Amino acid sequence: MCGIVGYIGTQQCVPILIDGLRKLEYRGYDSAGLAIHDGKGIELVRAVGKLRALEEATRERNTLEGTLGIGHTRWATHGGVSEENAHPHVAGDIALIHNGIIENHSALRKRLEGDGAAIASDTDTEIVAHLVDAHVRAGKDLVEGVRDALQEVEGAYAIAVVSRKDPSRLVVAKNASPLVLGVGDGENFAGSDIPALLEHTRRMVIMEDGQMAVLRRDGIELFTLSGDPVEVVERRVDWSPVMAEKAGYKHFMLKEIFEQPRAIEDTLRGRLERELGDINSAEIGLTPEVARSIKRVCLIACGTSHHAAMTGHYYFEQLAGIPTVVELASEFRARDPLIGDGDMVVAISQSGETLDTLMGAKIAKDKGAHILAIANVTDSAIPRMADGQLYTRAGPEIGVASTKCFTAQLLALLMLAIYVGRQNKHLSDEQTRDLVEELARLPLHMRDVLTGTRQLVSNIARRYKEAQDVLFLGRGLNFPIALEGALKLKEISYVHAEGYAAGEMKHGPIALIDASVPVVVLLPKDSYRDKSLGNLQEAKARGGRMIVVASEGDEDAHATADEVVEVPVVNELLAPFLTVLPLQLYAYYVADMKGTDVDQPRNLAKTVTVE
Ligand code: F6R
Repeated sequence: MCGIVGYIGTQQCVPILIDGLRKLEYRGYDSAGLAIHDGKGIELVRAVGKLRALEEATRERNTLEGTLGIGHTRWATHGGVSEENAHPHVAGDIALIHNGIIENHSALRKRLEGDGAAIASDTDTEIVAHLVDAHVRAGKDLVEGVRDALQEVEGAYAIAVVSRKDPSRLVVAKNASPLVLGVGDGENFAGSDIPALLEHTRRMVIMEDGQMAVLRRDGIELFTLSGDPVEVVERRVDWSPVMAEKAGYKHFMLKEIFEQPRAIEDTLRGRLERELGDINSAEIGLTPEVARSIKRVCLIACGTSHHAAMTGHYYFEQLAGIPTVVELASEFRARDPLIGDGDMVVAISQSGETLDTLMGAKIAKDKGAHILAIANVTDSAIPRMADGQLYTRAGPEIGVASTKCFTAQLLALLMLAIYVGRQNKHLSDEQTRDLVEELARLPLHMRDVLTGTRQLVSNIARRYKEAQDVLFLGRGLNFPIALEGALKLKEISYVHAEGYAAGEMKHGPIALIDASVPVVVLLPKDSYRDKSLGNLQEAKARGGRMIVVASEGDEDAHATADEVVEVPVVNELLAPFLTVLPLQLYAYYVADMKGTDVDQPRNLAKTVTVE
């Protein structure tokens, strides 16, 4: 995910911008750049790779001086990793950086090219620079030019703009991508987050969606996108440097759990055609022809990504009507799998580097299957070898235990299944429209669950943290979520936990149940709910202590369980996105109360490149 910084003041801005970009490195990037106003014009420096390369390039230009500038780290989305695609982008007198995705960039590009604009990169960002330039050329002032350009743009953005003709102003704007302003004495700052600015000031202004700001050396003005003034409200941030890195959360894992609504919004962005009630094929990684030719889907992955694949199994069979198998990548490659022409192998991996998944995909490719990678890390090994790529846009995941990448993978699989179901006409217009609408509302529901259940789950964790064994039960789409809940708990709290299909309980695990074993049951309102309620009652009758994740207002759950965590009622295909959240929080709080190393649990690695 891109990072942006901006500075206007009296100090030389190159070191300030590079230092800010270094604080944003955690967001992930593949190129970086600066635009510096030297009082006469704008100097541009861009480099592919790490910030070291940008620093090297700035050193080579030893005359690079100025007290107004913008800096950017780019995580490639539109257009490959290259110097031309790196930000800032320049159009006429305008230099601009952007974090987010401009959804209507193709139509705008066509129009601008028709008007004679020479667009040098493949990015959606350069389009915005040209729009601003066009308005300024037509006689608008810089601020009005930015405002008018943004009226034409659909999508998510945090932008920062400077003009060669105006060394006294830095203009920024935000919609759905983060942007923070830092207030100084005779200087002001902008950045993607607080840590990027914290070394220079603790006086922050958190911008809201739909706002623009004009930064001068001696002050900041804030407006709505329609030009109405907004009061500038400063808040003082007293975070320590360590807290700053984690945006005030105690651990990266907790931060990442709370980032999930945003990760889902970003992964959805540009892929839903809300007005048409459909999935946009542009960034799904699969052409309509290939989608129509698929006879069988094989999902391969490891660990948490394998649990996402298990949920994907339901999505593909129900929504695309295609026979689907799910395999642990290590087992898939342990035999000589019968796979080939007509099969689509979807290799799912947060890191994109997991060796078993990579080797499994290679075997399938050699045998003639079509390979689609679902990955979070751009240009990592698995997407590089695959025929198509569907990137989750969860942003870098630092905590070793995967959380936000898991829900982003669920979303990628769901969108892919809807897309294939549309291509092979398995899914009706109406079903698709309903799903698209529900998907658009999903981030809101996730936010509600996270904020609404956090305290309750922490209290439950306190009551049950001494348990030596915990059972997790789920049925249908929530069976993989039960497995995921158990995996999360064991890997970070070192408590023994088992996930079971609820229907399997009486075939063995019921023997384990007594008052010392908490049983977590997933009971959202879905087609399996009544059967799972029966399993809950069976376990209760044997003295089990029952923790239930149920839909709002489920009286039976309240009557039977010791603890109930409620989630909103949604289409049952989407319930796993909500039921997994309290389980992630539960694992987190138990681990934190036990004092384990939550972000780097013993013996585990974030990227597993061994067999
Ligand atoms: C568990 C976890 C691991 C990974 C597994 C696969 O929280 O993170 O189980 O899911 O190692 O990793 P990726 O998705 O990078 O292939």
